[in-house]
Amino acid sequence: MTVEKCVLAYSGGLDTSALVPYIKEKYGYEVIAALVDVGRMQDLETLRKRALIAGAVDSVVVDAKEEFLRDFAFPALQANALYEGKYPLHSALSRPLIAKKMVDLARERGAAFIAHGCTAKGNDQVRIDVSARCLDPSITVLGPAREWNMTRPQLMDYLTARGIDLPLAKENPYSIDENLWGRAVECGELEDPWKAAPAGAFAFTVDPRDAPDDGVEVVVGFESGIPVSLDGEEMAAVELVETLDTIGGSHGFGRVDMVENRLVGIKSREVYEVAGSLALVMAHREIEDLTLTRELQHFKPIVDQRLTDLIYEGLWFSPLAAALRAFIVETQEYVTGEVRLSYFKGHCRPVGRRSPESLYVSSLATYDSGDTFSHESAKGFVQLWGLPVEVWARKRRGLL
Ligand code: ARG
Repeated sequence: MTVEKCVLAYSGGLDTSALVPYIKEKYGYEVIAALVDVGRMQDLETLRKRALIAGAVDSVVVDAKEEFLRDFAFPALQANALYEGKYPLHSALSRPLIAKKMVDLARERGAAFIAHGCTAKGNDQVRIDVSARCLDPSITVLGPAREWNMTRPQLMDYLTARGIDLPLAKENPYSIDENLWGRAVECGELEDPWKAAPAGAFAFTVDPRDAPDDGVEVVVGFESGIPVSLDGEEMAAVELVETLDTIGGSHGFGRVDMVENRLVGIKSREVYEVAGSLALVMAHREIEDLTLTRELQHFKPIVDQRLTDLIYEGLWFSPLAAALRAFIVETQEYVTGEVRLSYFKGHCRPVGRRSPESLYVSSLATYDSGDTFSHESAKGFVQLWGLPVEVWARKRRGLL
């Protein structure tokens, strides 16, 4: 009899480590651990081996950093995606990619199951599950962590009882999820939305009060809506995002503290460190301001908003998301240019922008000499523009 196989989304933490023996015992499947690297993961080899110690038949690291930016984060950037106006969606964007890598691995290894360690209260279970089912409906998705109800000490005992001794990192009071596009911190003390987040919740941003007294300026270059350079130097995606993250973080920029509406119906208090992604959204908008026509610029946010919500709601892989993305790509052809970002004590502000595709025409905009704007046309334009309300006002007054 052949044993069924299950690909587990493995993080190297206690929960997903305990899932390895759990899946073996509860379902009788062999476990193949998959560590999908979407950035900011350290000591991958140690983590990979940890899954083997926990009893996995194989443990694989998948480097998905570039793909994550190119195919997920940057398309979201082109949509200026900020959930509820604040959160750049780093977790939400990574889950469809993680699901994709797991489905690929499952097919390669002939596994009929994939499993994740998401809890029942979060959005991530939805995103992994729905993405995987869209990519391959024949694969069954398991979320065993939703059913076991074990506390941290119980999980440790569970492993010890099976002779599994894992060198786990020191206990962290928070639930953390991080990648190249940001870092999310939840739970623990943060559950009181009135209480300011303690210093220990942050890892990549300094307290704005401790930021240097001298600010710094960075020039971000875009080509067709994709960031391609810093200070005039072409830079690969991963390095560019990491650099902006470091600069912003060192100036205390990029902390987002919010109460957010989860898909599963609850509100939750979330703290994010998103210096790189937030600065990029800000900069990208500046280039759109210069290069999109008014009509396009006024309409696009409707599409942006819808795509943002779909990303949050786990529907990245869906016909609607694909269609909206096609629209957005169409809008980005001329979104090329440079933005000056000025960082100072917790703030990042755009202070200049330029573009070879700019629709800003000095001779039309100027109040000085050299003006080419047709002043005579303005009079007739205003006359006709106001005609509908004038007719309405005359009618009300019995003048028509
Ligand atoms: N609230 C954010 C979201 O739903 C972040 C989730 C972070 N995930 C985690 N497992 N801690 O997208």
